Amino acid sequence: MYYETDKNDHGLPFNPFKAIVSPRPIGWISTLSKDGIANLAPYSFFNAVGDTPPMVMFSSTGYKDSVANIDETGEFVCNMAGWDLKDQMNTSSASVPRDTSEFELAGLTMAPGRLVKAPRVAHALTALECKHLNTVRMTSLEGEETESYVVFGQVVAVHIDDNIVSNGRVDVTKIKPLARLGYKDYAVIESVFEMGRPAT
Ligand SMILES: Cc1cc2nc3c(=O)[nH]c(=O)nc-3n(C[C@H](O)[C@H](O)[C@H](O)COP(=O)(O)O)c2cc1C
Repeated sequence: MYYETDKNDHGLPFNPFKAIVSPRPIGWISTLSKDGIANLAPYSFFNAVGDTPPMVMFSSTGYKDSVANIDETGEFVCNMAGWDLKDQMNTSSASVPRDTSEFELAGLTMAPGRLVKAPRVAHALTALECKHLNTVRMTSLEGEETESYVVFGQVVAVHIDDNIVSNGRVDVTKIKPLARLGYKDYAVIESVFEMGRPAT
């Protein structure tokens, strides 16, 4: 099969793009509005973009509350959702008014940030406190503004549940991180393998 995206003539019932770019980690983004209302939502257009210093990004299709809060307050937290929090993560993706906190909706406890005012998900096994670098509204090849707003942040503090550290390493199999695939599909990482790079 071959198709060109300006025609999207793949002939499939659903666009396969997100199934191809998978698995995608899920950044479970918590923020505070300027009025102090906590917000939480999952974003799978999410990744690290550098490690010196550590930096992350997520992309919002439309100018959603998470982006608005970050543009206003300059802070956010990326909580990482593992298998045990999958239902709460999903519940927090509901479209609710900006003055409704998804923490409450999903029955999640907030824990305070140390270097940012935004709260984190208390039971998330890892969380990255971030300061906003910039938000880029992407422009297409045709020079048109798209609805993709990409938020970049620098990680200033890291929370790790001590129970997932074994032999000095974060044991990902204890996190069982969720990853987003295409359609309504998810994956969960339960096993890992090691492979060194070729010696130079
Ligand atoms: C697993 C998962 C991943 C998602 N990824 C994205 C994403 O990358 N970009 C996006 O705009 N919406 C994404 N959504 C939908 C948002 O979570 C949803 O629109 C949410 O209401 C946005 O909340 P906010 O307005 O409080 O930021 C995702 C939903 C789920 C369940």
